[in-house]
Amino acid sequence: MNISNRVRKAIYAGTFDPVTKGHLDVVERGSRIFDELIVAVADNPSKKSIFSRQERVRHIRKLVTKYPNVRVDTFKGLLIDYVRTQDTNIILRGIRTVSDFEYEFQMALTNRALAPDIETVFVMACEKYSYISSRLIRETVQLGADVSMFVPSEVQAELRRKIKK
Ligand code: COA
Repeated sequence: MNISNRVRKAIYAGTFDPVTKGHLDVVERGSRIFDELIVAVADNPSKKSIFSRQERVRHIRKLVTKYPNVRVDTFKGLLIDYVRTQDTNIILRGIRTVSDFEYEFQMALTNRALAPDIETVFVMACEKYSYISSRLIRETVQLGADVSMFVPSEVQAELRRKIKK
């Protein structure tokens, strides 16, 4: 296939527990670069999620309706296997800080060793959200902090309700 005629589709995977404004910044950047972007919600076996996979999908779906070329999906197993099922070879990742780099490098190279045809493409994430993580959001909300500068208000409200239970 002529490469210039190909639809450029990328996969932005994560656990998104919860989705933050930092993730949404990467989604917006990706939606401007690619013809189609799939936000792929995964479970990370080394993390205990507060929201179920379906809840995380619901949150993200509501927040990405303004991007017509973005859709939300879930997957289990290896990311590279999922990428192949979507008929693409591009993984999108956001780099926030120098400290992200080593981890991202390891992941990208592991994925490349397993699937040399799949490329990881990085965007520079917004510096405003460079230090947040989903774990820190969960922890600070649990302790009563207002994190509306980092998390969409509807997600923060659901997080509060979930933590109170
Ligand atoms: N803004 C704000 N926070 C961000 C962010 C951004 N732009 N980018 C990442 N983060 C946060 C995430 O919320 C996450 O926080 P947490 O650790 O508190 O949950 C942390 O930074 C790390 O992000 P990430 O590396 O994307 O981890 P993840 O758990 O969200 O996603 C997968 C990891 C799902 C992509 C990876 O585990 C995977 O590919 N799994 C499938 C199995 C597989 O193929 N494994 C082999 C990989 S080589």
